[in-house]
Amino acid sequence: MQFTKEKLEEIGQIGFYNVNVNPQLDLFEEIQRLKKEKNAIILAHYYQDSDIQDIADYIGDSLGLAQQAEKTSADIILFAGVHFMAETAKILNPHKKVLLPDLNAGCSLSDSCPPEAFSKFKDLYPNHKVVSYINCSAGIKALSDVIVTSSNAEAIVRSFADDQKLIFAPDKNLGRYIAAKTGREMILWDGSCMVHEVFSLKRILDLKALYPESEIIAHPECEETVLAHANFIGSTTALLKYAVKSECQSFIVVTESGILHQMEKDAPHKHFIPAPSEGTCACNSCPHMKLNTLEKIYISLKYEVPEINMPEDLMKKALLPIRKMLEISSKSGL
Ligand code: 13P
Ligand code: SF4
Repeated sequence: MQFTKEKLEEIGQIGFYNVNVNPQLDLFEEIQRLKKEKNAIILAHYYQDSDIQDIADYIGDSLGLAQQAEKTSADIILFAGVHFMAETAKILNPHKKVLLPDLNAGCSLSDSCPPEAFSKFKDLYPNHKVVSYINCSAGIKALSDVIVTSSNAEAIVRSFADDQKLIFAPDKNLGRYIAAKTGREMILWDGSCMVHEVFSLKRILDLKALYPESEIIAHPECEETVLAHANFIGSTTALLKYAVKSECQSFIVVTESGILHQMEKDAPHKHFIPAPSEGTCACNSCPHMKLNTLEKIYISLKYEVPEINMPEDLMKKALLPIRKMLEISSKSGL
């Protein structure tokens, strides 16, 4: 965080959001003006609130966002997503200013894999290469041989020689799914996403009984028992493309509910049903992603805080496996 004392005082400690934004302001207009004035772009993940998706210059899944971050000519990248995504953008663009409107926007999956513990775990398997899901900290990326996303994990795992032993971190559900698809045994780190793990199979199947013509489409971060009932499994972008192209008119969508906004926009005549979680919580909404708001984006762009920065040597180490991922993805046409 690069706050000067004066700046913190001026904006009322932006990290803690004692910030009052004039309610008369047209935030859409103000944000558009600031973007132009500062040559800034907003990259947003599909799990953001719909108003944020609507103001973004690019909306995508983790792979698409990393690809956009790599090629942008903007001076400022405002990341409407979570911390590891903004870190990835900064690692790819060390000379650009990368902003994350709320530094508390973390990720349970990334948090489930602390670098120190992972380093010890990795030492137990000296002949293994490390394949890490992009949902991890820069510290884990620096300990990895290659990074993957849910869009390219299968292609990247297949790119290793058959006899190469592999560790997959941090998501055990995605790891198990890719291991089954590729027929490769992999050592899995025991991490998971708090959103994708709490979907209720019973309630999904109750919905399916209610809408028998619907298809179940699921993200591979979901548990094996849920994936076993899915008609289609894919990254957020893949789920969106499938739902738009498919002949089917109704879908039970087993991933974070933010994706429904683009699905409804791109296929307005189709029926999208958010899959329910256990209990009565709104657990299909990621609390980290939802920390971002239009107000915070406005303040963040206006004052150019909070900024993502990391030690140079960490960024250099983390860059190598990210670059490798982007190279293999582009060779595979992803
Ligand atoms: P994708 O963006 O790769 O679909 O991953 C979903 C996710 O959980 C991002 O945090
Ligand atoms: Fe992390 Fe899960 Fe939220 Fe994605 S949906 S940011 S994996 S907690």
